Amino acid sequence: MRAVVLQELKSPLVVEERASLEPSAGQVVVSLRAAALNRRDHWITQGLYPGITLPVVLGSDGAGVVTKLGEGVDRSWDGAEVVVNPGWNWGNDPAVQANEFTILGLPDDGTLADEVVVPAESLHAKPERLDWRAAAAIPLAGVTAYRALVTRGRATADDRVLVTGVGGGVATFLLQFALALGDTVFVTSSSEEKRRRAVEAGATAAFDYTADGWAKQLSKEHGPVTLVVDGAGGDGYADLLNLVAPGGRIVNYGATAGPPKKFDPFKLFWKQLDLRGSTMGSPADFAAMLSLVEEHALQPFVDEVYPLEQANTALARMRDSNQFGKIVVDHGLSS
Ligand SMILES: NC(=O)c1ccc[n+]([C@@H]2O[C@H](COP(=O)([O-])OP(=O)(O)OC[C@H]3O[C@@H](n4cnc5c(N)ncnc54)[C@H](OP(=O)(O)O)[C@@H]3O)[C@@H](O)[C@H]2O)c1
Repeated sequence: MRAVVLQELKSPLVVEERASLEPSAGQVVVSLRAAALNRRDHWITQGLYPGITLPVVLGSDGAGVVTKLGEGVDRSWDGAEVVVNPGWNWGNDPAVQANEFTILGLPDDGTLADEVVVPAESLHAKPERLDWRAAAAIPLAGVTAYRALVTRGRATADDRVLVTGVGGGVATFLLQFALALGDTVFVTSSSEEKRRRAVEAGATAAFDYTADGWAKQLSKEHGPVTLVVDGAGGDGYADLLNLVAPGGRIVNYGATAGPPKKFDPFKLFWKQLDLRGSTMGSPADFAAMLSLVEEHALQPFVDEVYPLEQANTALARMRDSNQFGKIVVDHGLSS
């Protein structure tokens, strides 16, 4: 089978021919039809991620067909079309993941290969309505968005939600999920085209976070925002503290723009704000996220699609943040 391998940091991935995989007890082999990238894959290639061990096959998102079953696995999975929950060993506490929590695609070999070995408990039936590419786009970004918005953000239909950096993979799911819940949604993006697409998808208004005064403009034109879901951090964080309504919540799931240089605790306590962190999601979050996708017949935003051999080009697109939604890799085996 083909595996696209990170052999050295800051070097291109290399396509290797490897022996077909075998499952241990409790595991299955999935023959992948499509995978998708996350910013994590880029961070890992640059050495900017904890616990890197090389060589490794990157890729946390995948959809495919179960071809081999290890001992003890329910035989009904044989031949099933599945998506894989990439968050493993969450543990027993719904509030926080255990120390043993790991993410598919480091340290365990991931989905940029024809086959992947995963625990049977990470399998979920692929939504029949979706093609392989759309299904592969869902797992990591979908569960991160769901937990940040619903589990940690406690979004209800009454919320007025701001999603920052809407071009991102997680952010496009946040937009879709918040609209599905019935929220009024505002977004930011540095790209005019992405702002246009977000409004076309249902956002009430879109703002350029690189323009001075955008947060004041939002408040003036549209009133208060009760919930901000942010994956950027950085110096723009001050704007978020300013614009969120008294008693509001800010949930952070990432820090693409790094830590903010300044943080104003006066805003935090005087406005009685709730700042919350969120990372991926529990098995219950993953199942609830898939239900939401199905209940509202959501179609994930698939950006560009690349053949497996062009994984380096796909990664370059992620590095340059040109995407709207998920960058997908197609293994070329679709029926
Ligand atoms: N905690 C977790 O479990 C978890 C899971 C997934 C991702 N993450 C983190 O969340 C972040 C996004 O991940 P992703 O996979 O969705 O990445 P992505 O698809 O690469 O999203 C990156 C987007 O961030 C936006 N951005 C960059 N600088 C910004 C700024 N200063 N203010 C607002 N937006 C900014 C850009 O949006 P525009 O192009 O629209 O300007 C860019 O397209 C990353 O930091 C990632 O590591 C964390």
